[in-house]
Amino acid sequence: MTIITNWTKKMSASFRKSVFTFSHDLASTGLFTDSALIKLIEKHPDELTDVCTMGPASDTRYPNKLRTGDFRDSTAEELFQAAKTGKVWINLRKAMNVHPEYSLVLDQMYSGIAKNTGKKPFNANGGILITSPVAKTPYHFDKTETILWHVRGPKRIFFYPIEEKFISDESYEQAVTNMLEDDLPYDPSFDEDATFIDLAEGQAVSWPLSAPHRVDNHGFCVSVTTEFSSKESALKNAAMIANATLREKFGVSPSWTKQSPINRLSKSILGIALKKTKLAVSSQHADYVTFKVDTMAAGSVVDVEPYERNF
Ligand SMILES: [Fe+2]
Repeated sequence: MTIITNWTKKMSASFRKSVFTFSHDLASTGLFTDSALIKLIEKHPDELTDVCTMGPASDTRYPNKLRTGDFRDSTAEELFQAAKTGKVWINLRKAMNVHPEYSLVLDQMYSGIAKNTGKKPFNANGGILITSPVAKTPYHFDKTETILWHVRGPKRIFFYPIEEKFISDESYEQAVTNMLEDDLPYDPSFDEDATFIDLAEGQAVSWPLSAPHRVDNHGFCVSVTTEFSSKESALKNAAMIANATLREKFGVSPSWTKQSPINRLSKSILGIALKKTKLAVSSQHADYVTFKVDTMAAGSVVDVEPYERNF
């Protein structure tokens, strides 16, 4: 089966260097229909399932902040309906890896890219996003090399320049020292420098490492998000961990953006060593549940007293 349907030589040259779209035929696998997705939600492990809703944000720099929900009292069908008609957003993390019928497709997706770009096979992870008509993914960047494979519904993605104004070294450091976070502080004036793409069903988008972006749904959507670690992403993240540690523990103000390539490499080596010795700074915090899914409630969301996620 060929999943990628229109890859060109120009795309091979642009891969991970600029934003571009290509076409795919994931829908023809039959794995993304309503009934297939309900079956998938049913069997996907709770610990790899995130059910979220959006804001309101307590900090205006982080609009549409995602909130964590407890979904364990809902059936798979109810959860799917909550995403289809409510204000709920489902992320089935690693769904493309842990279920054989989906992992076969993930292999096809990335073997197509490896063949086209002449690279070694990629060790990719893939999740499935089942998202409400009103879902908005907050302004953020991804710590690894990501592709969004859009399958169903109308979705708009905005991209912003990879510059200090839009992604400061300090905000990158905060995200890279916290496994749960990749949000960046956002200002509406950033949109003057943004470009956007209205993704059609069957269209995928690829972008350069750490490009800030955000997503607005214009209807119920289903997408696959895939990511892999590259040498470039691993070295950059390690250097940022080193800089975060120097900033917090030694009071210095390092700048990845202004550093020379050799300085960046030495920071990467330091970051890798710090991680091994557990001296690296961490801003990890607990994940708190703030709502429960209830299809009888408005938007299928019922607020609860916050409690730590333990499932
Ligand atoms: Fe992203």
